[in-house]
Amino acid sequence: MNEGHPTEPSRVTEPRDVAEPSRPTEPCHVTETRAAYDTVAIDYASLLEGELARSPLDRALLGHFAELVGLEGGGPVVDVGCGPGRVTGHLGTLGLDVSGIDLSPGMVAEAQRRHPELDFRTGSLAALDLPDASVTGLVAWYSIIHTPPELLPEVFVELHRVIRANGLLLLAFQAGGFSVRHEQAYGHAVTFEAHRHDPDGVAAQLADAGFRVTVRTERVPQDYEKTPQAFLLGRRG
Ligand SMILES: C[S@@+](CC[C@H](N)C(=O)[O-])C[C@H]1O[C@@H](n2cnc3c(N)ncnc32)[C@H](O)[C@@H]1O
Repeated sequence: MNEGHPTEPSRVTEPRDVAEPSRPTEPCHVTETRAAYDTVAIDYASLLEGELARSPLDRALLGHFAELVGLEGGGPVVDVGCGPGRVTGHLGTLGLDVSGIDLSPGMVAEAQRRHPELDFRTGSLAALDLPDASVTGLVAWYSIIHTPPELLPEVFVELHRVIRANGLLLLAFQAGGFSVRHEQAYGHAVTFEAHRHDPDGVAAQLADAGFRVTVRTERVPQDYEKTPQAFLLGRRG
């Protein structure tokens, strides 16, 4: 459990195709990801507790995002793929009007238990139950890592739809340009894939979706991490 970035499960094998989805209307990777995070939600939340306090760069980027939202006059912010709500809670303490959305009902329950003052609900990056141009800011903090690279363009079109003009999008993800299949994570036997996206590719996809990338940061892996960590801030055109 001490290998890799804390948001990164520990045992991996090469990716492989997955058979039959359990829901005919959604891709296999979505079904698998939801099931995996439902299983690990409580242990993930405990493991990540306090991680932001040890990550000054993460807090600096989130603080930068929060200030820019303020300069836009505030307004709703949504943390999509919020997990147990650690970033949602942090953004709330920075004064943002923030709520959380996650694929996993287990994660949503854990987030709500930990942050009863905030609103959390289930939902998907690919099809948000939000009106057009309804949020000033959207954070996807290590949540695009389970979307295959070829499906990211449609996700970014969806994020662009819900962010208002001049609004902000902040992404964090493990960088690399390759995928790994996990069979164990956070002390549980679970199977799912994680994609170490290529920051150049993601930046190009953001531009294609209508975002102007204004900040691009990459830090080298810390001793418990396997890949660089990438952070991109985009502004909706
Ligand atoms: C590595 S965790 C990160 C959680 C949280 N952002 C954090 O930093 O602690 C990834 C989270 O993204 C969620 N997720 C993955 N794919 C998603 C999707 N397509 N839509 C919404 N949430 C998703 C998972 O359920 C999980 O809670």
